[in-house]
Amino acid sequence: MGLTTTEAPFIERAQRAGELYVTQPYELYTEENHEAWRKLYSRMVPRWRRYANEHFLRGIGSLCLDPNRVPRLEDVNRFLGPLTGFQAKAVSGYVPAFVFFDCLRNRAFPTTITIRRSDRLDYLPEPDIFHDIAGHVPMHTDPHFAETLVRFGQCAHTAADLVSGIRDRETQVHCLTSIIRAMARFFWFTIEFGLMRSGDELKVYGSGLLSSYGEIAHAIESPEVQRYALQLEWAINQSFEIDHYQPLLFIVDSFDHLFSLADQLERWMKAGKLSNVAPGEPVVNERDVASFLARAQ
Ligand SMILES: [Fe+2]
Repeated sequence: MGLTTTEAPFIERAQRAGELYVTQPYELYTEENHEAWRKLYSRMVPRWRRYANEHFLRGIGSLCLDPNRVPRLEDVNRFLGPLTGFQAKAVSGYVPAFVFFDCLRNRAFPTTITIRRSDRLDYLPEPDIFHDIAGHVPMHTDPHFAETLVRFGQCAHTAADLVSGIRDRETQVHCLTSIIRAMARFFWFTIEFGLMRSGDELKVYGSGLLSSYGEIAHAIESPEVQRYALQLEWAINQSFEIDHYQPLLFIVDSFDHLFSLADQLERWMKAGKLSNVAPGEPVVNERDVASFLARAQ
């Protein structure tokens, strides 16, 4: 059965047993799984050269990924660790929001180990190892980007500390839900779908774009996409939908710029400016809220 997205007995067993962190059972990948990786990787290479930012291109070079085989996380980590201290850490599925951000703070990146079907490369019901390893991890080789992720993880602790001081349960949950929504929106419009200025051009640094054959070109070329300089007050109040190409993307000048925005996010959180952001997507589920409250007790 292999390690195919939504069809992997190994993952179902781990989830039933309540095991979030797992060891990548490399021998379970089938030839079809490797074939999916090979097809995904080979068709992205020319698109990366054309649309990806220089930090990503340097990063993917320094990870020495095999274009033909699903990567072993321990091999990836051998190259990644010395550069920024980040590690890809195999998980069995959904990671509650606080746990996810806390991992980033500890320079661990929760990584999906399943891969989409080789005959449906553009259908992605949930993140897979191509999105996580080819889309995210090359960015983690860049020290400035890595610091931003750590900073983001620290923001989650600030949020947990802040709401721990709210006595009224309803107010606490309302405030926390809003903060998580604001953080998720910021993450979405930067880490997942961000664009960066590069001289007179725009380049892609968001991992959702870097792992999508169709959307990476659409993001840069399509006249249907609105592209604006990132304004924090806009991003944290802007809802988004995940099931189609993004109609609105935000641009940063540099990773120093992005880092300064993560700083600003935390300052605004402390000032209460994240406690009542606009309603709408994404939905913050009970597990996300509970994960913050467990830390806040
Ligand atoms: Fe992602």
